[in-house]
Amino acid sequence: MLQSVIALAAAVHCADSLQGPVGRLPAMGYNTFNAFAEDYDAALVTRQAKIMQERGLVDAGYNIMLLDDFYAMKERNSSGHMVADPDKFPEGIPALSNELHSMGMRLAAYGDHGYQTCGGYPGSYGHEMQDLETWYSWGMTYLKEDIPADNITQTNQVGSYERMADAIAEFACRTGVTFQLSLCNWGWQQPWIWGRRFGQSWRTNGDIKPTWYPLAAIIDTASFQYWATDFYGHNDLDILEIGNVGQGSPPGNLTHEESKSHFTAWALLKSPLLISADLSTATEETFEILGNRDLIKINQDPVVGENISPFRWGINSDYTSNATHPAEYWSGNSSYGSVFMILNTQDTPQEMFFNLTESWTIRAGRQYSVYDLWKHEDVGVAVRNMTLQLPAHGVGAFLLNDAGPEPEYLDGSCAVYYQCSFPNGTYISN
Ligand SMILES: *[C@@H]1O[C@H](CO)[C@@H](O)[C@H](O)[C@H]1NC(C)=O
Ligand SMILES: *[C@@H]1O[C@H](CO)[C@@H](O)[C@H](O)[C@H]1NC(C)=O
Ligand SMILES: *[C@@H]1O[C@H](CO)[C@@H](O)[C@H](O)[C@H]1NC(C)=O
Ligand SMILES: *[C@@H]1O[C@H](CO)[C@@H](O)[C@H](O)[C@H]1NC(C)=O
Ligand SMILES: *[C@@H]1O[C@H](CO)[C@@H](O)[C@H](O)[C@H]1NC(C)=O
Ligand SMILES: *[C@@H]1O[C@H](CO)[C@@H](O)[C@H](O)[C@H]1NC(C)=O
Ligand SMILES: *[C@@H]1O[C@H](CO)[C@@H](O)[C@H](O)[C@H]1NC(C)=O
Ligand SMILES: *[C@@H]1O[C@H](CO)[C@@H](O)[C@H](O)[C@H]1NC(C)=O
Repeated sequence: MLQSVIALAAAVHCADSLQGPVGRLPAMGYNTFNAFAEDYDAALVTRQAKIMQERGLVDAGYNIMLLDDFYAMKERNSSGHMVADPDKFPEGIPALSNELHSMGMRLAAYGDHGYQTCGGYPGSYGHEMQDLETWYSWGMTYLKEDIPADNITQTNQVGSYERMADAIAEFACRTGVTFQLSLCNWGWQQPWIWGRRFGQSWRTNGDIKPTWYPLAAIIDTASFQYWATDFYGHNDLDILEIGNVGQGSPPGNLTHEESKSHFTAWALLKSPLLISADLSTATEETFEILGNRDLIKINQDPVVGENISPFRWGINSDYTSNATHPAEYWSGNSSYGSVFMILNTQDTPQEMFFNLTESWTIRAGRQYSVYDLWKHEDVGVAVRNMTLQLPAHGVGAFLLNDAGPEPEYLDGSCAVYYQCSFPNGTYISN
C-alpha cells in the first residue's frame, strides 16, 4: 500500500514536470538552416543574435537560437558521445551558450530519430538519453527532431517519436528539466492526429521554400488542419522565409506584400516563429515585418490558445483544397478581440468583401471598432460588413471589438443579413 502511494506520488511529480508553462505557446527564435545550411559557425550565430538583440527582436520574444544540422562531427567518439565540430565552435558550444544567454537567448538543438541526420551526422537512435544529456550540458532544452525514413529502425512516425518522448519524460523525472520537442516530420502520416502526444509542435508540410506558391500550399493545408492547434500543441508551418533572399532553389523572392501575408498567416495560425535570414544584410522592411508586435502578441496570447480558421474560401467554393489559391477569409478569437485575416490569393489586386456575421466571433446587431494590425492604429467602425482593396498576394489583418449596438436603420434591425426585420418583428423582404 505504502509502496504504491509512493509510486503514485513519484508519477504525479513526473507528470507535473511535463506540464507547467513549457511548450504552452508557440516557440519563437532563429534557425540556422534555411539561411545558411552547413555554412555557419559560432561567430556567425553570435552576429545574428547580436542583431536580433539590437533590433528589438529578442525583446519581441524571439529567444531561441536553434543550431540546425551540421554542428557535430560525423562520428561519435569512442564512448558514443556526439562531439561538436571544433572548427565551427573553437571555444566549445557551452561558451556560445553562455554568450547567447547574456543576450537573452538560449541555444536549441537539432537531432534525428534514426541513425543519421539528413546531412549524414549522428542520429539519436539508441543514444536518446545520452544525446539529451549532451544537449543539456550545452545549455539546450529545445529539440527539433528530424526523421529521414529508413528501413533499419522499421517504425512508423508514432514509434519514431515515442522513443525520444519517453527519454524526455525519463530525463524530466530524473532532473526536473523538460525538453520541448518539436517534431520535424515533414507533414507525413497525419501528425495533427498524434503529434501532441509527443511534442509541442509538428510539421504540417515538407520543407518550405522562399517563394509564394509553396507558402500558399502550406496555408491550404492549414485551412483543413487549423483545429489541431491549441496550448501545448501547434501546427508548425515551418521556418519563416521573410528576408531570406539568397538561399534556396530558386533563391528567395517574396515581395513585400507576400512577406506580410506570410508573417500574418504564420503568426495568427499560431505556428512557431523561427527566423532564418542573414540579418546582417536584411532590409528595414524585414525587421518591420518580423517585429510586428501586434501580430506577435496574438501568436503568444496567454489566454486564448486556438487559432484562426476560414469562414469562407473566397475565390474557390468552401472546403476546396487548392494549393495555389487557399482559403481567403479567416477569423478567430483572441484576448484582444476578434481577429480577421483576409488574403488576396490572386496575382492581381482585388476588392475583398465580407459580412461581419459570417464569422462565428461576431454578434449580430452590433457595430465593431476596427484596429489595423499592420497600420498599428484604429481605422474606424465597421457596421455589418467590410470592403478592402488588397494588392496581389496581399493581406488585411484586423482586431474587431464591440462598439455598441449598430445604428438604427430605415430598413430595420438585422439579426443576420438574411433575416432583416423591423423592430416590431415584421420581416423585410428584399
Ligand atoms: C566523448 O565526448 C564526451 C563529451 O565531450 C566526453 O565527455 C567523453 O569523455 C568523450 N569520450 C572519450 C572516450 O573521449
Ligand atoms: C534498406 O535500404 C538500403 C538503402 O536503400 C538498401 O540498400 C537495403 O537493401 C535495404 N534493406 C532492406 C532490408 O530492405
Ligand atoms: C519568384 O520565383 C518563382 C519561382 O521561380 C516564380 O514563379 C515567381 O514568379 C517569382 N516571383 C517574383 C515576385 O519574382
Ligand atoms: C485553383 O484555384 C484557381 C482559382 O479558382 C483555379 O484557377 C485553378 O485552376 C485551381 N487549381 C486547381 C489545381 O484546381
Ligand atoms: C474570446 O476570448 C475571450 C478571452 O478568453 C473571452 O472572454 C471571449 O468570450 C471570447 N469570445 C468568444 C466569441 O468566444
Ligand atoms: C454593408 O453594410 C452597410 C451598412 O453599414 C449597408 O448599407 C450595405 O448595404 C452593406 N453592403 C452589402 C453589400 O451588404
Ligand atoms: C452579405 O449580406 C448581404 C445582405 O446584407 C447579402 O446580400 C450578401 O449575400 C452577403 N454576402 C455574403 C458573402 O455573405
Ligand atoms: C412593422 O413596422 C414596419 C415599419 O415601420 C411597418 O411597415 C409594418 O407594417 C409593421 N408591421 C406590423 C405588423 O405592425
